[in-house]
Amino acid sequence: MGTPLAWGTSYVAVRPDHFRVEYAINPFMDPTVQPDPARARAQWDALVATIEELGGTVHVLDQRPDAPDMVYAMNLGLGLERPDGSRHVVMSHMRHAERRMETTSAQPWFSGRGFSTSLVGRDGVGAHFEAGDAFAFGGSLVVGHGPRTEELGLKHLATELDVRVRGLRITHPGMYHLDLAFCPLDSTRAIVCPDAFDDASARALLDLVPEPLVLTEAEALSTFAANSVVVGSTVLMPDCPGHVRARLEQWGFEVRLLDLSEFHKGGGSIRCLTNPVDVRLGRDLDLVPGGRVLLP
Ligand code: ARG
Repeated sequence: MGTPLAWGTSYVAVRPDHFRVEYAINPFMDPTVQPDPARARAQWDALVATIEELGGTVHVLDQRPDAPDMVYAMNLGLGLERPDGSRHVVMSHMRHAERRMETTSAQPWFSGRGFSTSLVGRDGVGAHFEAGDAFAFGGSLVVGHGPRTEELGLKHLATELDVRVRGLRITHPGMYHLDLAFCPLDSTRAIVCPDAFDDASARALLDLVPEPLVLTEAEALSTFAANSVVVGSTVLMPDCPGHVRARLEQWGFEVRLLDLSEFHKGGGSIRCLTNPVDVRLGRDLDLVPGGRVLLP
């Protein structure tokens, strides 16, 4: 039996005031297929209202007019609370230049709210890291690398945060962030799509999760079901294959479906739009002084 996640009730999100598909940096994006601004806003409002209704908090950051992908707030940075109560965020260093200005706006926003901030690289120099690739699970920081985050970034994260980083190599171009293939549900359960990874990493992830809920490649890509968030015992999902719902309900979760279809045009869904900032070092992540990187 898993114990509920202690994190996942406090989020940062970016209101979609300037959301567009202006370039194509993932296989879902096609600049000839634009989101409808009013529908996108209504879908986003419903997501925020649902998180709040479930007892969560959503902090809203303004979208830069020149940063159409900034709505995918999961990628702004990895925020953590330290055992002494101080807060820190490792800002993302986006792989694609088109998104790098997002960090420039997000960094002062985090520092204005009491976070110390650090960078693993900037302006294309140094390791790339995108926070949609990193999740606390089983006391470790599980980090996907390949399409976006670079392997070199894992060492930065481990030493900077004093955590054990478990690196997984992502090889699937359509699951370019870990959050498209992995969703922690509680202490022992997670949604996993093994097809996102090379064989060794897929095996390592299935070994790490005592009770994995496995998605096929087609399910992960067509439903964004791994791109879900858990608030208490409710799983907010953009779509849910029948066997996934049956298993979640058997485990005692309630499934709540939300339409985020406008955001699928940019290649992201519920998780991408919400960045949890209540992960705690020493509670959700083991403190490992000096840090450690484990690769399969
Ligand atoms: N268009 C965005 C990109 O390619 C989508 C980001 C999706 N976010 C996520 N956490 N997977 O960067």
